[in-house]
Amino acid sequence: MKFAAIADIHGNCLALEAVLADIAALGITDIVNLGDHVSGPLEARRTADLLMARDFVSIRGDQDRRLVELAAKGPDASRRMDFLELEPHHFEWMASHKPTLLYRDEVFLCHGTPRDDAAYWLDAVSNSGIVSLAPIEAIEAEAVGVEASLMLCAHSHLPRVVRLRDGRMVVNPGSVGLPGYEYANPVPHVVEAGTPDASYAVCERSHAGWFIAIRHVPYDNQAMAAMATRNGMPAWGSALATGWIR
Ligand SMILES: [Fe+2]
Repeated sequence: MKFAAIADIHGNCLALEAVLADIAALGITDIVNLGDHVSGPLEARRTADLLMARDFVSIRGDQDRRLVELAAKGPDASRRMDFLELEPHHFEWMASHKPTLLYRDEVFLCHGTPRDDAAYWLDAVSNSGIVSLAPIEAIEAEAVGVEASLMLCAHSHLPRVVRLRDGRMVVNPGSVGLPGYEYANPVPHVVEAGTPDASYAVCERSHAGWFIAIRHVPYDNQAMAAMATRNGMPAWGSALATGWIR
């Protein structure tokens, strides 16, 4: 069993195309998508069209859920660029996704944690806003009741591979489309991947266990950085240009 895990595309269609080309070049045909497909100041409609055409096994992210909730209030619910670009069939597609999924009976998929699509699983934020690897006890507590040897999460945009003390693994493939951001909850903090490249994971099970490879894929990130800045999101522009928020 071998497949690719992509996540947190956030409307970055150029990054998505580069990642899909890399996956194809590796000869991998099975792909799972952990959500946050389109939200942001980039190319929501183009990204949604591509994802709908490819029809990957997908779950919804917290930002997908928020867009669907907005759409339920009517076409005038928001002036957000992503919301205005999307059409009813895009919202229906996002609304059709579940928050969690068991893939091929052995890989658990969620966006944040098994119980919360907007919480970090592998990352902790200190009271002063420092983001670091979460304590193993906290990571294991979230995995209680999940019957899978491999669990995939996303949301923090930081690629991480953690092996629990019982042998199970939790993997965050990082973000295809947004390598850093500023966020207000639970306390103000920044996330920085340290590279602008698109990130995803290759997961392969052998007799010895799961082999995980995080791939960092270069693409024309400056074009997307310029687009984000042009569309009024300079922090996105910085993250897309460099992998850092400055
Ligand atoms: Fe998210």
